[in-house]
Amino acid sequence: MAVRYLEENRTFVLHTKHSTYQMKVSDYDYLLHLYYGERIEDKDLSYLIKPQDRGFSPNPNEAGNDRTFSLDVFPQEFSSDGCCDFRKSSIEVKNGDGSYAFMGKVIKHKIYKGKYALEGLPALFPVEGDTVDTLEIWLQDLVTKVTVVLCYSVFEEKDIITRAVKVINQGEKTMYLNRIMSVMIDYMESAFDFIHFDGRHAMERKLTRTPVSYGVQGIGSTRGASSHQHNPFVILCDHEANEDYGDCYGFSLVYSGNFRCEVEKDQFDQTRILFGINPKGFSYQLKPGEQFTAPEVVLAYSDKGFSKLSHLYHDVYRSNLCRSPYTKMLRPIVINSWEATYFDFDDEKLLNIAKESVDMGVELFVLDDGWFGKRDNDNSGLGDWKVNTNKLRYGLTDFVNRINQLGLRFGLWIEPEMVSEDSDLYRAHPDWCLSINGRPVTRGRNQLVLDLSRRDVCDYIINSINEVIESANIEYIKWDMNRNITEAWSYVTEPEKQGEIYHRYILGLYYILDHIVLTHPDVLFVGCAGGGGRFDPGMLYYHPQIWCSDNTDAVNRLDIQYGTSFVYPISCIESHVSVCPNHQTGRTVPIETRGVVAMDGILGYELDATKLTDEEKATCRSQVKEYLKYYSLIADGDYYRLTSPYDDTRYVAWQHVSKDKKESLVSFVLTDKEFNEPQIYLKVKGLQATTLYEIEGEKGLYSGKILMKAGIPVPVIGQYESVQYHLIAKEE
Ligand code: GLA
Repeated sequence: MAVRYLEENRTFVLHTKHSTYQMKVSDYDYLLHLYYGERIEDKDLSYLIKPQDRGFSPNPNEAGNDRTFSLDVFPQEFSSDGCCDFRKSSIEVKNGDGSYAFMGKVIKHKIYKGKYALEGLPALFPVEGDTVDTLEIWLQDLVTKVTVVLCYSVFEEKDIITRAVKVINQGEKTMYLNRIMSVMIDYMESAFDFIHFDGRHAMERKLTRTPVSYGVQGIGSTRGASSHQHNPFVILCDHEANEDYGDCYGFSLVYSGNFRCEVEKDQFDQTRILFGINPKGFSYQLKPGEQFTAPEVVLAYSDKGFSKLSHLYHDVYRSNLCRSPYTKMLRPIVINSWEATYFDFDDEKLLNIAKESVDMGVELFVLDDGWFGKRDNDNSGLGDWKVNTNKLRYGLTDFVNRINQLGLRFGLWIEPEMVSEDSDLYRAHPDWCLSINGRPVTRGRNQLVLDLSRRDVCDYIINSINEVIESANIEYIKWDMNRNITEAWSYVTEPEKQGEIYHRYILGLYYILDHIVLTHPDVLFVGCAGGGGRFDPGMLYYHPQIWCSDNTDAVNRLDIQYGTSFVYPISCIESHVSVCPNHQTGRTVPIETRGVVAMDGILGYELDATKLTDEEKATCRSQVKEYLKYYSLIADGDYYRLTSPYDDTRYVAWQHVSKDKKESLVSFVLTDKEFNEPQIYLKVKGLQATTLYEIEGEKGLYSGKILMKAGIPVPVIGQYESVQYHLIAKEE
């Protein structure tokens, strides 16, 4: 069993293959956190706590005159609030008597085989061959009877621990849950860096690294989506940690809405990390007997730096997160119409693009925004999911048939969560959008957000979108979401429950996805929110891939895909070759390099194929061929970032290595050309040291050790040009 309870010293121990997590029930039944890190034996680590009389750190009543027992000092697993601990708390409640107090004591625990269930929320699931054990620790405030269930599932072989929290009001009065963090860990030290992934629309997930310092550092989203601005994934690591070295702890929240991560260094140089739903705008009413379920956090520990940490997440997210059968399938090569036509198209224009693309090796044509309702620009039409026959003259079914006749499969863009004021849907149901009665609405991209906290609105979306999907031979859906939530207020909800709307929106979204995505397993669903504005594990549960960014500039994409790769598998990152000068940055990059960068993900095209030269089309054709040759390396291999955009290098390089180390693809882009420049040696990673490898197309064999330690001399190439090396094991 990966979960053990050591009766003699009341200690809980969770073991994965390479990590250990330890907690202990202390005197007076509080739950202490003792250890998370490299796997160690079952030794009670409470010797690490040296109780002292600490000034201004209070002592719980049961401790009597013992001034050395303080929850403001001891490392805890789930902190109290309003009593004894002044650090940031796991929970904040407003009790029936108006008090703000919670002090959880362990009342029982359960250990069982398999994974805990989280109603209405996406979460990791075990697959064949996994050993998963679960621990539930029940804490209760003995005065109010508010009960918290801490849930841990241990994916032993995969080196992953998941944690989630349930709060049950077992008292007799209605209470309000104003804050609930899915995970809290207290480390008895503070020599950490805090790494997070920040950005903005079209420049997502840039890595930020800062030392943990006194006070509270935090990131999060209050936008109703996980957001372009911050990603729900963070790392705590040694100051010296790098790709290959150092202790690193990953925290990845399986949630698509408002989130908050806080790191606090306290007065005794200890570190607390908390991660969960953002408390801003959150207040959840729990009547007696009612329960709240907080989303899951996926924890991973690496003793060997970031590459290993990424491999742990990539492996588990590839096999245990996404429900779609496409996760394990070769994804089709798409051409998307957005950057080719924007809103300006008719069926003839689209069919011409589709026809030209066949020759490039494209397999699926995606019709993006503009095909429905009154939608000639982004000011109108959202909500009216009926084909616009001014553009597709013979309707959607006929158009799809004509695409199929070209030998292409068909995909369609939708944005189901939104409504335009200029739409039949809004005119019929003005109260179906999130807005505050009597207060002018705030617009974003000139559109409003539908109130997914309402079941009737969700059911309308389910019916209308399913009708579209079933009206034609649609095999791919791009599910977009193009504004953030403001005025999170619902017309049908009592005033005391309006603090639930942000979360209920996300529950509504997951309910809709359950009834559209999971009921169409044959359709490949692709996530999108103005590019990567909702690139999170919650959405990956439904979509095996997500449109990574609205920025298709290959050089900017190097940064964006670098940050994304820290936690999300490469097979989740949809990436397209678009035209140059690039529509976002105006930069010109050779089409070969655009292909190399797009191959660091799920390759596709987003351009007007009728405007390509024959030479460009031939390049695309060979790009597709190469990509298909390398697909399983890219989609299923181990990923190595060979450089960082934040290093002082003039190039960016990365590598995919097959699990058996017999094959590798190394990609290199020169980002900063200098005249008469020094020779660049590319030292690769992840090979078998003693195996001899061939560099395809070149003479000679080199051992893995030589390629890793001495490197490959890169030829002199021009600005933004690229090189790829295919390494093949020849002799053991
Ligand atoms: C968002 C998407 C784009 C495109 C447009 C259409 O911005 O990220 O790829 O689909 O919407 O309006």
